[in-house]
Amino acid sequence: MMLDLQTGYARQPLAFHDLSPDQGDFRQALIDGLSGRHKAIPCRFLYDARGSALFEKICRLPEYYPTRTELGILRAIAPEVAERLGPGVQMIELGGVSSLKARILLDALEEPSAYIPVDISRDHLRASAEALHAEKPGLSVLAVCADYTQPFELPSAPGGGPRMGFFPGSTIGNLRPDEAIAFLASWAERLGPGSAMIVGVDLRKDPAILEPAYDDAQGVTAAFTKNLLVRANRELGADFDVDAFAHRARYDVPAGRIEIHLESLADQTVRIGKAAFRFAKGERVHIEDSCKYSIDGFKALARAAGFRPTAHWTDPAQLFSVHYLETAAG
Ligand code: TRP
Repeated sequence: MMLDLQTGYARQPLAFHDLSPDQGDFRQALIDGLSGRHKAIPCRFLYDARGSALFEKICRLPEYYPTRTELGILRAIAPEVAERLGPGVQMIELGGVSSLKARILLDALEEPSAYIPVDISRDHLRASAEALHAEKPGLSVLAVCADYTQPFELPSAPGGGPRMGFFPGSTIGNLRPDEAIAFLASWAERLGPGSAMIVGVDLRKDPAILEPAYDDAQGVTAAFTKNLLVRANRELGADFDVDAFAHRARYDVPAGRIEIHLESLADQTVRIGKAAFRFAKGERVHIEDSCKYSIDGFKALARAAGFRPTAHWTDPAQLFSVHYLETAAG
């Protein structure tokens, strides 16, 4: 072990475990998605380089309250979270490409033993793990390039310590409730007894606040979803007329769900290689849903997954929530 001359900390390792996650074939997924009676494009293809840059822009939009609200909650609760967790924690972040939120907790924790970001996006993950390790040489950073919805082996942190899963951004809302339960249940098992999981969850609220968050005035969100068509044209030689589709975000109040679609503005035919797809005027292509919860609704979901929800925090306007879940005692 080396001592860092500037900080006096023992230098800890930086490791990159590449589990070679399979994103699936865009061409086949697109053709399958457009062949059914209800057209859809799988949302995992939203995040190519251009899509990821547009998503970062979404996170800074005035209408998109979740990112800044969650950051504010995390800053406010970090000392209390650190108190609950105690020393030597290994923090496992699901989707750890932008470590901004994780840093707030890492800065507050008492000598965390490791930061283990898990993300499918290899280059982004590598760059952000390197940057964090350069900044915090006393923390082991064990990046795992993997699909965190699939089973995989967590690396063992050199210092051991209690495990804390961290799943911010209300990404849990992009799963259907039944999928969210199965997903959390698999993480409860993987984290093991005596672990905690911190989950960011967007709350149900007035559609007048929710809908603009997913359909902003500058059209950044529209560009983000239409990027799927841009990507299909560039990568697959498809001939989507991008301007002949409109981005739609509608809040289904009883379901508590934002539904994001691309709507065909004309009767048209689109070709992807030899395959041709007809779109009727007004026909919608499903892109993604974003489920919103009440505090009690999310706690019930966490219980159904085998966690004990032991604390939650919100912002003063009750826009967003952060939940502290525990597995059975170790
Ligand atoms: N997890 C984000 C959310 O549900 C993802 C997201 C934000 C998104 N804006 C979007 C997905 C627009 C598709 C289109 O808030």
